[in-house]
Amino acid sequence: MATHAQGGPLARLLVLAVLHVNFIALGLEPDFLYPLENVTIAQGRDAMFTCVVNNLGGYRVSGDSATARVAWIKADTKAILAIHEHVITNNARLSVTHNDYNTWTLNIRGVKREDRGQYMCQVNTDPMKMQTAFLEVVIPPDIIYEETSGDMMVPEGGSAKLVCKARGYPPPKIVWRREDGGDIISRGGPQGKTKVTSLEGEIVNLTKVTRSEMGAYLCIAANGVPPSVSKRIMLHVHFHPLVQVPNQLVGAPTGTDVTLQCHVEASPKAINYWTRENGEMIISNDKYQMTEINSSAYSVQMRLVIRNIQRSDLGGYKCISKNSIGDAEGNIRLYEMELPNRKSRDDDDGDFSIEETNDVRSSLQGPLREGGPRDEDASFLGGGAPPSAAATPLAPKFFLITALILATIC
Ligand SMILES: *[C@@H]1O[C@H](CO)[C@@H](O)[C@H](O)[C@H]1NC(C)=O
Ligand SMILES: *[C@@H]1O[C@H](CO)[C@@H](O)[C@H](O)[C@H]1NC(C)=O
Ligand SMILES: *[C@@H]1O[C@H](CO)[C@@H](O)[C@H](O)[C@H]1NC(C)=O
Repeated sequence: MATHAQGGPLARLLVLAVLHVNFIALGLEPDFLYPLENVTIAQGRDAMFTCVVNNLGGYRVSGDSATARVAWIKADTKAILAIHEHVITNNARLSVTHNDYNTWTLNIRGVKREDRGQYMCQVNTDPMKMQTAFLEVVIPPDIIYEETSGDMMVPEGGSAKLVCKARGYPPPKIVWRREDGGDIISRGGPQGKTKVTSLEGEIVNLTKVTRSEMGAYLCIAANGVPPSVSKRIMLHVHFHPLVQVPNQLVGAPTGTDVTLQCHVEASPKAINYWTRENGEMIISNDKYQMTEINSSAYSVQMRLVIRNIQRSDLGGYKCISKNSIGDAEGNIRLYEMELPNRKSRDDDDGDFSIEETNDVRSSLQGPLREGGPRDEDASFLGGGAPPSAAATPLAPKFFLITALILATIC
């Protein structure tokens, strides 16, 4: 006969109580080995939660009628996702893997935004045990092209509103920069005119736009989820051509080569050419060589080389710049100049100096601007005036230079 059958109900309870105490004393109660860890993952990637439960087997051996199992539950909707290794919910992207006896992993393939929320790993002991963690689904930024500005064209002095919108989670921050690293100038604000190298916000208001603000503007959207994205918006500023002539009077000995120069600013791009005083267009040949060098997005240096100057080459030249908005010209007068007597100049030893090339080729320096709104800068207009007439309004240095040239001519 079995001894315990004679023990009666009290003895059996005692045995069970002792066994239970033993489970607790031996640490055999099912328990979580590690906390469930929060997961932050980009939309479309695979996420996993790992729940490690010790002594699940020990609990079942206890003879309790309940069989302890690990279940996964979405806490916010209370939906049971899986029990043991069986996925309950109707979601083909979910699966549970069970490794090393005690490790239960909930896998979520191709995470979607709606998967975000609290997840619970539960063991159905009595009372039940559970631990939770949060799945955050982030989305890298994306420019909303339909709501973002394209390339723009404004007349100088006009306004431009650049808009850039982006989606993503967390909501992206928009920062504006100029591709060339230049300043973004805002004039409308309460602090008046401010210059910054970067500006935050979806909208950039540019007012009284100047040509120096022309160029590529980058809107960069970032939310901490790589990759950041950007859009390049070209701002074209249109204005009437402006011609500046650094040397309006150019003296050179016959038989030498001479270079005439004009600086042109124009947008849209202008057609630039040279003519003689009578309007006759100059074409490239052995005598004339024309070049243009870009010095910025809207400025060009025009050069005309005249080879082996003859008497017939002396006189007026025009550099002309034409775009869709208008045209402007600069005038240069070429006159004959005898080579200065080097020795006498050395003896002179004045308190001014001029470069060797200037000495031979140009008699007078000073900016000349025509055609644009910057005419107030022009120090002297109407090219072609003889040196003596031009000398009066200029600074003493120029007067001295002119005086020297007059001295060498006479
Ligand atoms: C997990 O995320 C929740 C919700 O965002 C937060 O309250 C909790 O502190 C996080 N836990 C850990 C361990 O980071
Ligand atoms: C930009 O200008 C618009 C009006 O054209 C105004 O409503 C908006 O507040 C301005 N935004 C900024 C950032 O100055
Ligand atoms: C000058 O700029 C124009 C247009 O921006 C370009 O087509 C041309 O190649 C440039 N020339 C030089 C010499 O850089």
